[in-house]
Amino acid sequence: MKKSIVLGITGSIAAYKAAELTSMLVKKGYEVYVIMTQAATKFVTPLTLQTLSQHPVYVEMFDSPQSWEIGHISLAQRADVVLVAPATANFIAKLAAGLADDLLSATLLATRAPVIIAPAMNVGMYENPIFQKSMQFLKEQGYFFVEPDEGRLACGTTGKGRLAELDKIVSALEEIFSAKHELSGKHVLVTAGPTREPIDPVRFLSNYSSGKMGYAIAQEARERGARVTLVSGPCHLEPPAGVDLIPVETAQEMFDAVIKHFDTADVVIKAAAVADFRPRQRAAEKIKKDEAVMTLELERTPDILQHLGDNKRDQVLVGFAAETENIVENARAKLKRKNLDLLVANDLTEEGAGFGVDTNVATLFFPDGTTVKLPKMTKRELARAIIDQVIKLLTTKKRMV
Ligand code: C5P
Repeated sequence: MKKSIVLGITGSIAAYKAAELTSMLVKKGYEVYVIMTQAATKFVTPLTLQTLSQHPVYVEMFDSPQSWEIGHISLAQRADVVLVAPATANFIAKLAAGLADDLLSATLLATRAPVIIAPAMNVGMYENPIFQKSMQFLKEQGYFFVEPDEGRLACGTTGKGRLAELDKIVSALEEIFSAKHELSGKHVLVTAGPTREPIDPVRFLSNYSSGKMGYAIAQEARERGARVTLVSGPCHLEPPAGVDLIPVETAQEMFDAVIKHFDTADVVIKAAAVADFRPRQRAAEKIKKDEAVMTLELERTPDILQHLGDNKRDQVLVGFAAETENIVENARAKLKRKNLDLLVANDLTEEGAGFGVDTNVATLFFPDGTTVKLPKMTKRELARAIIDQVIKLLTTKKRMV
């Protein structure tokens, strides 16, 4: 059966590109139902879209019954995906506020289908914190955004705000169709990267973690439909699309950010390499090299995972262990001590495992004593294997409730 796309078009100069987009989607074999806002009809005519989509175009909420073939609720229900391209700042603000004062906004409020938004606007509007806040809020609610491109804008200025390339919008759509959305409706909290523990204003203690494992997990969880919060220490990676990134530096900041989101999380995956110790005191001024030997007094950082394990309700809790010796004993002890549902243990002595590299060699440990030894694989593949297990664990938990 053909997939149905409800394409919302709002009143931006980029609305003319929606005609090309409609044509591309129809050629790819999708059923496209177009809803336009009144303002959009000033830029491109419903007749153009009707001809290209081969379906009636909907504009008014209260059209006469002859043309009222599909009400907004049935359009909302019929959609496999709702795509709004271009989406104006005004439309996005309305959506964030939950308004439903025209057919398109009412459809969006009613639909349970995944929603993709491709904004297009002037750079000043795009950068305005009010707009950014609405977009951020919608991302947190699970809306997918295909962010605008940079370039010359219709208003004559240059900056971010041009409707993304149509190919990019179509890829985002196809990604949703190809992905299995087993985690849809779930909130997955992932931590990644190292932490930095300040010694003085210019120095810190840290480790070699690149963040690659945690970012791969965040991306996998997102692609499988979850709302993802990624709490990340400093690393040089692009955050995966659609993920809500919370940058942190210290173990304490990571602790605070994780605790803040723990209550709403269904799954927590702690891939971060949290520093275990921090300087007891952070010197206010840069420490001078007067002494031949210097002693730093260190204290323990909060063990975030231990805290989560001690306080978890029904969340699936996944921990990591990077070991160089006695892997099995250490892993089993850690799994129990931290009250985890799954522990992913890396043997750092194996080639292709651990920090910085793109591959990993891991063994999965479960509380019932079972283990799964995985071959060397890319971090992306390991992320997939971990998310597969998380989905199984979620289903078992649900059955037990
Ligand atoms: O006990 P160990 O540090 O080996 O445990 C590693 C696991 O615990 C990782 O999942 C890591 O993210 C987490 N951890 C933590 N807070 C710490 C230290 C480790 O959450 N302070």
